[in-house]
Amino acid sequence: MRALVTGARGFVGARLMAVLDDGRAAPSLQGMCESDVRRVIEAAEPDVIFHTAAISDIQTCEKNPEASYRANVEIPLWLARSGVKLVAFSTDQVYSGCGAEGPYTEEYATPANLYARHKLEMEQRTLELNPDTVLLRATWMYDMPLYGARNRGNFLVNMLLEPELAFSSTQHRAVTYVREVAEQLKKTARLPGGVYNFGSENDLTMLETARWLRDELGLPVVLRDSGARHNLWMDCTRARRHRIRFSDTIDGLRQCIEDYALRR
Ligand SMILES: NC(=O)c1ccc[n+]([C@@H]2O[C@H](COP(=O)([O-])OP(=O)(O)OC[C@H]3O[C@@H](n4cnc5c(N)ncnc54)[C@H](OP(=O)(O)O)[C@@H]3O)[C@@H](O)[C@H]2O)c1
Repeated sequence: MRALVTGARGFVGARLMAVLDDGRAAPSLQGMCESDVRRVIEAAEPDVIFHTAAISDIQTCEKNPEASYRANVEIPLWLARSGVKLVAFSTDQVYSGCGAEGPYTEEYATPANLYARHKLEMEQRTLELNPDTVLLRATWMYDMPLYGARNRGNFLVNMLLEPELAFSSTQHRAVTYVREVAEQLKKTARLPGGVYNFGSENDLTMLETARWLRDELGLPVVLRDSGARHNLWMDCTRARRHRIRFSDTIDGLRQCIEDYALRR
């Protein structure tokens, strides 16, 4: 299966490229118009497009709403209009305004920030254009830095590097090992169109998860309670029914610790 990967040098895209048998990196889509994007697709003749390119930082989106709209809504729409099977990333942030406790199934979505509103609009409009589109609501993902790739802050790296961090003692939220995400992504081209929660599940609060990692690795980081935040707690039953299975948050962290021999 020939796959075209957008954002192939990004955090998820680089790990995905490493596990695909026939993955082709799209050139950067930044600054392109719809016909440029169509030409990229025609030249690659893919069976599936894995779309990881985005403006994925909440604050950057708030500061640049037009750029966020272009990257997070319009570009995915152009890809969906090509008629090629599209697998695109959404986010657990679409649950950021949910009042109920959770965990949330895919029917619930109440975004509380611009990034998440744009992602939700992308989900709805790409599905209207092409009902075969697969939208993956991802959790916060982590990994060690990759040699030669831009290092973006993530849960694990922050825990290793920062002297002090604040997490909520009431927010239920999962973090997912991005190498598991890359492995599971390979199966998503066969999914029927629709929205899927896609990542580790977790019964712990963010502060409990952080304390577990601090204690497991004997890290010096000082952990504070950041106060109440809305849950971003996902129920991934729908993906599991299609044999897409993730470790829970703690087992994913255990695997990552072992992969990188992080224990003293
Ligand atoms: N990282 C997380 O924890 C997380 C959590 C939930 C959801 N997600 C979603 O998962 C997907 C992958 O995330 P990621 O962390 O891999 O993203 P990333 O590393 O921040 O960015 C991926 C790629 O997006 C492209 N890009 C950046 N600005 C762009 C713009 N203005 N227009 C078009 N493309 C742009 C860049 O590729 P080029 O250099 O090729 O342009 C970049 O390498 C995204 O859809 C993100 O929203 C991520």
